[in-house]
Amino acid sequence: MNNVTFLARLDRSVTPEEIKNLQYSVGWSGGDLEDWLSCIGHSLCVATARDISSNELVGIGFLAGNVRHAQLVDLTVHPRVQRHGVARQLVQLCLGFVVEHGIKYVGLTWAESSPWLKDFYFRAGFREIHNAMWLEESIIRANAPVLKEEQ
Ligand SMILES: CC(C)(COP(=O)(O)OP(=O)(O)OC[C@H]1O[C@@H](n2cnc3c(N)ncnc32)[C@H](O)[C@@H]1OP(=O)(O)O)[C@@H](O)C(=O)NCCC(=O)NCCS
Repeated sequence: MNNVTFLARLDRSVTPEEIKNLQYSVGWSGGDLEDWLSCIGHSLCVATARDISSNELVGIGFLAGNVRHAQLVDLTVHPRVQRHGVARQLVQLCLGFVVEHGIKYVGLTWAESSPWLKDFYFRAGFREIHNAMWLEESIIRANAPVLKEEQ
């Protein structure tokens, strides 16, 4: 798709099946339909991007958490429309929600397989911190390397 026209907005009318297909498109396992249904209903906000001509879901991101603490998660853009600013707009929509609702603490993790993501999120206003920890089972489930050995 050379000429990409998409509409990005905060929108919960997305279906779990659409999200699963989008996850497959980037080579991820797709996840559980019941989990996605819960994510749609219980996230602080859901940012979606749809191809204007076909209405196909081409991008998604969630802001999970509560009005004090939030996490930007599961940002995904269909490979066919990547590098057209879709993710940038989805992040901006979520950060607009953060400002509008006065959310105090916002974090994320990024996939080390795509090191450029660090700059991408840096440009969106995120900075690295050194005092974050994850539950061990979560690290294993995410297949992420443990960065520091226990002291
Ligand atoms: C990460 C992802 C959501 C980015 O989506 P996208 O819509 O292509 O990103 P954007 O077009 O908004 O990119 C914005 C900027 O990020 C950088 N960028 C994006 N993709 C890049 C890539 N593959 N390599 C290097 N830099 C990249 C560029 O600086 C880009 O700006 P530019 O195109 O003007 O140079 C998408 O690649 C994806 O779904 N990847 C698989 C899932 C994933 O890893 N999600 C991240 C979870 S933390």
